Amino acid sequence: MDKDIKNNSIGFCDSGVGGLTVYSKFRKILNTENCLFFGDLKNSPYGNKTKEQLVAFSRRVFDFFKEKGVKAVVMACNTTSASTYPVIKDEYDFKIYPIIQSCAKILAGLDVKRLGVFATASTINSGVYESEIHKYNKDMVIYSQSCPDWVNIVESHTQNQPEKIDIIKRDLDKMMANNPEKIVLGCTHYPYLLDVLGEFVSKDLFIDPSEYFVDFIKSDLEKSALLNTQTEVGTEEFFVSANPNEFKLASGMFYQVDKVEVV
Ligand code: DGL
Repeated sequence: MDKDIKNNSIGFCDSGVGGLTVYSKFRKILNTENCLFFGDLKNSPYGNKTKEQLVAFSRRVFDFFKEKGVKAVVMACNTTSASTYPVIKDEYDFKIYPIIQSCAKILAGLDVKRLGVFATASTINSGVYESEIHKYNKDMVIYSQSCPDWVNIVESHTQNQPEKIDIIKRDLDKMMANNPEKIVLGCTHYPYLLDVLGEFVSKDLFIDPSEYFVDFIKSDLEKSALLNTQTEVGTEEFFVSANPNEFKLASGMFYQVDKVEVV
């Protein structure tokens, strides 16, 4: 692999600020990488869209990254990892890291027999969390539940409004009836709701897979001899397809973004 490619950027994509829960952790462990982040706010939320729509959205974002000459793209989005990754994975000549498939082995190895998964309707309907985890551990019982309102609550930055807290509590109660030992936050937006969830149950109940995800990406970049060789802090650029001000406002909890370009 030639040196110039190593120093090309890595793209990160999601429907909106959710991807920043991954990006913020990535930036902490690999801050010499040059990064591009794309939030597809025009099409957010992804979780209630058809597979055909999602494939079209992903191709648009991936074509954008291709033009920028990236060396890899991080799908910091469970919904597209579940539905569009299997369709587009061979269409591009750069590495693609999908969050669910990259974390499944680690989740399957946890000392847990009853695992809850909160995710978008699209992710839950795909059954990809179950199929990926059961590749490595057939005995783990998985309780999957969609939380259709949570992404909009995060994007509109309204998680502390009483009626939104009621919605979150109602979804949580439904899951808790299964008595899960741990609950995976299977949508990158959901870690923004940890403080609200923590008002009702211990925050230790929740697993944010982005911790595992960024370690996986780092070791794969190392193995593939794709780590950036520069010593100075990498550049970063943020792009959205709409609503830059909403993006900046909602970003604050995980990664304060001050400059965003609409493309
Ligand atoms: N944050 C994304 C995910 O992990 C997309 C959520 C959405 O836009 O519905 O699934």
